[in-house]
Amino acid sequence: MEKRKKVLTGLQPTGVITLGNYIGAIKQMVQYQDEYESYIFVADMHAITVPQDNKALHENIKSLIALYLACGIKPEKNTIFIQSENEYHANLSWLLECNTYFGELSRMHQFKEKSKKSENFTAGLFTYPALMAADILLYDIDYVPVGIDQKQHVELTRDLAQRFNNKYGETFVVPEPLITVTGTKIMDLVNPDKKMSKSAENPKGVIKLLEDSESIRKKIMSATTDSETLVKYNPETKPGISNLINIYSALTDKKIPEIEEKFASSNYGTFKREVADVVIEEIEKIQEKYREYIESSKLDDILDEGREKTRKIAKAKWEEVRSKMGIGR
Ligand code: TYM
Repeated sequence: MEKRKKVLTGLQPTGVITLGNYIGAIKQMVQYQDEYESYIFVADMHAITVPQDNKALHENIKSLIALYLACGIKPEKNTIFIQSENEYHANLSWLLECNTYFGELSRMHQFKEKSKKSENFTAGLFTYPALMAADILLYDIDYVPVGIDQKQHVELTRDLAQRFNNKYGETFVVPEPLITVTGTKIMDLVNPDKKMSKSAENPKGVIKLLEDSESIRKKIMSATTDSETLVKYNPETKPGISNLINIYSALTDKKIPEIEEKFASSNYGTFKREVADVVIEEIEKIQEKYREYIESSKLDDILDEGREKTRKIAKAKWEEVRSKMGIGR
């Protein structure tokens, strides 16, 4: 029998999980879990590359696991774990850092953007992509479902894998990013030229997965559009409407031309109302399940199992890499 392909993704437990995170990463994982051997984790060591409130961070970690389950990630089909509970992520990250060029890390868009926000950014923020490469390369992952903002990091992971394989012999599987056509980048509802982001200045532009329905409806109804009245997809000239079309498409699985046709004679108010209905229906289902899971003692069992399984796999890969690099006994 042919070996099943492997997928992996991670999210940072930064409290606010957005509709963008859901469409860009979690929903994709739910779609792939039947077909592929799936790994999903909480990237808590990535979260500490910028300042965090330690108490809030601690709570957000379990909350994110409960949210994964509520979104439809099935424990029997996924290996679910917390990054910091598996020391081989940091261990391999160091070995990879010593095979990564300063210039490569300097060119990462996310680093350039985030380092602008503070004079005292950390060394961890700079080496962040090497840790992300370790997350992926430890498990021989074939596909990495992410939003387009993470594509450059997966491409660097590919480069590092190829470089290592060329120098030391076949060691790593070279992974590919998986980016959905419509979920590529969900934009901010107020400033549709910016991505919907946890750290947006104006909270009106961001839909959170744990937000109440009334507030979601208000945000969608007042989303920025344009001076026309035509529901037509054109991200350049109609970024606001195109973003709502993308959201609608991602949640209903309808193709863009089909949506344009369906709303051909609707005004923006009618279209927005339907988008709000679809988003709220999806999010209410998630929230109901979230409340069950967050109270459940099963979370610890799932995480214990994930930790044991991933540590075994990761240890073997790390030892292989270490020995090929010539360090240790
Ligand atoms: P993070 O926590 O910033 O985001 C989690 C996932 O959500 C996607 N995303 C979006 N997708 C569409 N539209 C948006 N507006 C939007 N905003 C965020 C991100 O692309 C991401 O897929 N470095 C990663 C976490 C990570 C990781 C990994 C991912 C660590 N190690 C290994 C994959 C594989 C991050 O900070 O994602």
